[in-house]
Amino acid sequence: MRIPFALADVLLVLAFLSPAPWAVNGGSSYCKGATPDISRPHSVTITEFGAVGDGVTLNTKAFQNAIFYINSFADKGGAKLFVPAGRWLTGSFDLISHLTLSLDEDAVILGSTNSDDWPVVDPLPSYGRGRELPGRRHRSLIYGSNLMDVIITGNNGTIDGQGDVWWNWFHDKTLNYTRPHLVELINSTGVVISNLTFRNSPFWTIHPVYCSQVVVQNVTILAPLDSPNTDGVDPDSSSDVCIEDCYISTGDDLIAIKSGWDEYGISYGRPCKNIRIHRLVGQSRSSAGIAIGSEMSGGVSEVHAQDLHFFGTNSAIRIKTSPGRGGYVKNIHIANMTLTNVNATIRLTGHYGEHPDDDYDPNALPVVERITIENVRGDNITHAGVLEGIEGDTFLDICLLNITLSVTSKPPWDCAHIAGYSDLVTPKACKLLREEIFPDHWSDCYNIYSQNSSSRLNRGKQWLSW
Ligand SMILES: *[C@@H]1O[C@H](CO)[C@@H](O)[C@H](O)[C@H]1NC(C)=O
Ligand SMILES: *[C@@H]1O[C@H](CO)[C@@H](O)[C@H](O)[C@H]1NC(C)=O
Ligand SMILES: *[C@@H]1O[C@H](CO)[C@@H](O)[C@H](O)[C@H]1NC(C)=O
Ligand SMILES: *[C@@H]1O[C@H](CO)[C@@H](O)[C@H](O)[C@H]1NC(C)=O
Ligand SMILES: *[C@@H]1O[C@H](CO)[C@@H](O)[C@H](O)[C@H]1NC(C)=O
Ligand SMILES: *[C@@H]1O[C@H](CO)[C@@H](O)[C@H](O)[C@H]1NC(C)=O
Ligand SMILES: *[C@@H]1O[C@H](CO)[C@@H](O)[C@H](O)[C@H]1NC(C)=O
Ligand SMILES: *[C@@H]1O[C@H](CO)[C@@H](O)[C@H](O)[C@H]1NC(C)=O
Ligand SMILES: *[C@@H]1O[C@H](CO)[C@@H](O)[C@H](O)[C@H]1NC(C)=O
Ligand SMILES: *[C@@H]1O[C@H](CO)[C@@H](O)[C@H](O)[C@H]1NC(C)=O
Repeated sequence: MRIPFALADVLLVLAFLSPAPWAVNGGSSYCKGATPDISRPHSVTITEFGAVGDGVTLNTKAFQNAIFYINSFADKGGAKLFVPAGRWLTGSFDLISHLTLSLDEDAVILGSTNSDDWPVVDPLPSYGRGRELPGRRHRSLIYGSNLMDVIITGNNGTIDGQGDVWWNWFHDKTLNYTRPHLVELINSTGVVISNLTFRNSPFWTIHPVYCSQVVVQNVTILAPLDSPNTDGVDPDSSSDVCIEDCYISTGDDLIAIKSGWDEYGISYGRPCKNIRIHRLVGQSRSSAGIAIGSEMSGGVSEVHAQDLHFFGTNSAIRIKTSPGRGGYVKNIHIANMTLTNVNATIRLTGHYGEHPDDDYDPNALPVVERITIENVRGDNITHAGVLEGIEGDTFLDICLLNITLSVTSKPPWDCAHIAGYSDLVTPKACKLLREEIFPDHWSDCYNIYSQNSSSRLNRGKQWLSW
């Protein structure tokens, strides 16, 4: 049963009234208020633990010893670990609660190019195996599990994974385990990652999984456009995640929202929800600006993204899934997007494939519904939309509103196994998206909020403001 739209809206408003810092607060910054008081009562510098910032000396022990020492301040307000100017080579190290890892402007943390410095750990239960190879996986450079109150920040200091060795091992097929992320936090709450540049991750760059209250703010993420699977930020089975003011240019999806893989994701059952993305700029030549999936078996809902600018990108918005995934993608709202030189504005892919093993249930069909995309302008767009649902599993209530694109291919829209509505879309949307949003179907569309400049939109507004 569907909650009546007005009631859902009231619930949404109530949720926003809570003082939760990661929620919308109506100010200029979505995550505002989440910017924590970063002054910790205690502070140490990595050089006090014997670290040498020459780019050659391996400092893994220094990081581990510093964090072990800082642990004694965890119940006294926590502590800051300062990394001064220099090039600090290290293997994987493990964070603790109530820690601020703070980089100087000219500090560069460099990932070791020896795979032995990235220990091997168990796969995530919602994946059942490593994402690219069966079995275990390398641990991320900066790692943490079961933590609270962790801040990774700096005055635009750099964390560089030196991923090209890993990309070569991937291309040569000499990896023994799935590649590591640059930063991974598991089952943690109250995480802030801000004011930093991340470069050349071996695999996905920032991976919060089974986390809540995560803020990624004012970061730059860079990797070559042809580097394999170097996603920017991948919120995975996590809730209350706010990503704001970021510039991301990588070899794969800039942001990919996930929640586990086929039968493992279904049985773990941990959704990804309340994800907010605000002011994202970037480029992904081979993949998407914002992707949902393809691993979405625990469900993804309540994704709100606005003020997006993508250029030289394959798909601006992409939802990818497959029979066997199960789960759902619903209540997605994307607004105010500007595109230049993009292959497809919106791509829905119902047959993405890629299964962890042969034990998936082909009858586990994903539910995809209530996807609203509005206020989009695009120049030099190849395909307006490639919208392909699943036969016998139609993607419902896909709503497109106020979209103006200059499109080079004909026909501009390619649609199958989808249903929904459109209004003020140029070039005119495919027939499956009926021009009947107002007055009859606006409540079927998720969260239309458009400016009230059009009288047709006003009609919706009046109902909303009771
Ligand atoms: C997640 O973290 C909490 C708090 O640290 C801990 O109590 C719980 O056991 C952890 N869950 C798992 C599955 O590790
Ligand atoms: C973003 O970070 C830079 C340094 O990395 C800082 O100068 C700037 O003020 C920050 N902006 C915001 C909005 O925090
Ligand atoms: C941080 O550094 C990156 C990489 O050098 C640069 O592109 C970005 O503009 C810098 N950010 C700020 C806020 O200065
Ligand atoms: C994979 O294992 C082999 C045999 O132990 C080893 O020589 C090789 O360096 C390993 N590859 C990587 C990328 O760690
Ligand atoms: C990011 O930098 C800005 C400007 O220096 C500062 O106001 C803000 O507190 C910083 N954020 C964090 C979490 O350090
Ligand atoms: C739309 O996004 C642009 C930047 O991409 C921003 O300048 C503008 O204020 C946004 N408009 C609204 C109505 O949010
Ligand atoms: C249009 O975009 C494509 C990439 O999608 C690019 O190759 C081409 O150069 C662009 N054309 C212009 C005129 O910018
Ligand atoms: C652009 O999209 C079309 C249709 O989905 C696809 O066949 C083609 O490979 C894409 N081009 C690039 C450069 O990704
Ligand atoms: C349509 O979207 C544009 C941005 O692409 C925005 O400036 C305009 O106000 C929107 N119009 C309506 C009626 O919402
Ligand atoms: C449109 O909405 C704005 C803010 O939501 C409001 O201030 C303005 O009065 C509205 N205009 C009309 C004609 O309803």
